[in-house]
Amino acid sequence: MKAIEISQFGGPEVLMLCERDKPVPKPGEVLIQVRAAGINRPDVLQRLGHYPVPAGASDLPGLEVAGTIVGIGDGAALEGLHLTIGDPVCALLQGGGYAEYCTAPAEQCLPIPAGLSMVEAASLPETFFTVWSNVFDRARLGTHASGRLETLLVQGGTSGIGVTAIQIARMRGHRVFATAGSDDKARACEALGAERGINYRSEDFVEIVKGLTEGRGVDVVLDMVAGDYVPRELKALADDGRLVLIALLGGAKAEADLSQILRRRLTITGSTLRPRDVAFKGRIAANLREHVWPMLESGAVKPVVFKSFPLAMAADAHRLMESSAHVGKIVLEV
Ligand SMILES: NC(=O)c1ccc[n+]([C@@H]2O[C@H](COP(=O)([O-])OP(=O)(O)OC[C@H]3O[C@@H](n4cnc5c(N)ncnc54)[C@H](OP(=O)(O)O)[C@@H]3O)[C@@H](O)[C@H]2O)c1
Repeated sequence: MKAIEISQFGGPEVLMLCERDKPVPKPGEVLIQVRAAGINRPDVLQRLGHYPVPAGASDLPGLEVAGTIVGIGDGAALEGLHLTIGDPVCALLQGGGYAEYCTAPAEQCLPIPAGLSMVEAASLPETFFTVWSNVFDRARLGTHASGRLETLLVQGGTSGIGVTAIQIARMRGHRVFATAGSDDKARACEALGAERGINYRSEDFVEIVKGLTEGRGVDVVLDMVAGDYVPRELKALADDGRLVLIALLGGAKAEADLSQILRRRLTITGSTLRPRDVAFKGRIAANLREHVWPMLESGAVKPVVFKSFPLAMAADAHRLMESSAHVGKIVLEV
């Protein structure tokens, strides 16, 4: 089969079209003929040599695909998932998505929501699994003890992660605020459902979210920046607020006044999805199917695909991602 490999660590040009053997599904896995593969920032980190491949995972990049199930490994319990050979699916992978075929644990496959194309479906798994796991399971965005629905601040509102978090939280009734690097991107966040898009280059997110919440601050912050954002995020949190870190684009070190954690009962947490086991990801898939897939089928939540490229042009797709000119997702067509 044709695939894109990381020929050595480096710039986008190290992504090379190559010939590989078709993968064989292990017990519990399915073989997928890939039609489209989503691109995520962690693929860029892997290409640069900053994101080691977990043991047992494909060395090929690609954490999500859409395609057709064309084979099954021993004991892949497809019936319980209401899936069978020939079904179109989208799937969360541990790697190997930039290819004509890939394998995925059956539990990490979801049906393609009615009405969506393969390209749109391939843009869903990585960000939807990550947002559900961090915003709703880990940070427990829900109903405040006072009875009001809690509020969310999304840093990086136009990232693939951001466009997903804004839409799902808004559709579950939460007030959402989101930061981005330009006025146009701030308005794009508002078009997706954020009550206020904040241009972090010209505006102070602490001041703005406090002003819009009667001085309380937000209940949850979803952050991919960290670094010197952390002390400001603690200030932007309401009492009992939760800060959930999913990346450290602004740096891994922070200096903060920790007395606020004691006085105002704040929580700092975080996670990475890729190394978690299949059972953990399967539970997220079941929650997405129940709570979020109906929103995709009704059109209340939409995939946001900025641009798609043919598989052979993966390097150009990475260049676009690194330019940060995009709003939403970038996808490869296979
Ligand atoms: N923990 C997990 O399990 C997990 C899973 C998936 C993704 N992630 C992380 O989540 C983040 C978003 O992923 P994605 O695929 O959605 O990426 P993406 O679409 O490329 O978005 C990243 C956004 O971050 C902003 N940005 C880029 N470089 C920055 C920097 N140095 N400082 C501050 N902001 C910067 C840019 O927006 P502006 O132009 O508006 O600044 C850009 O749009 C990535 O860092 C990724 O590694 C974590």
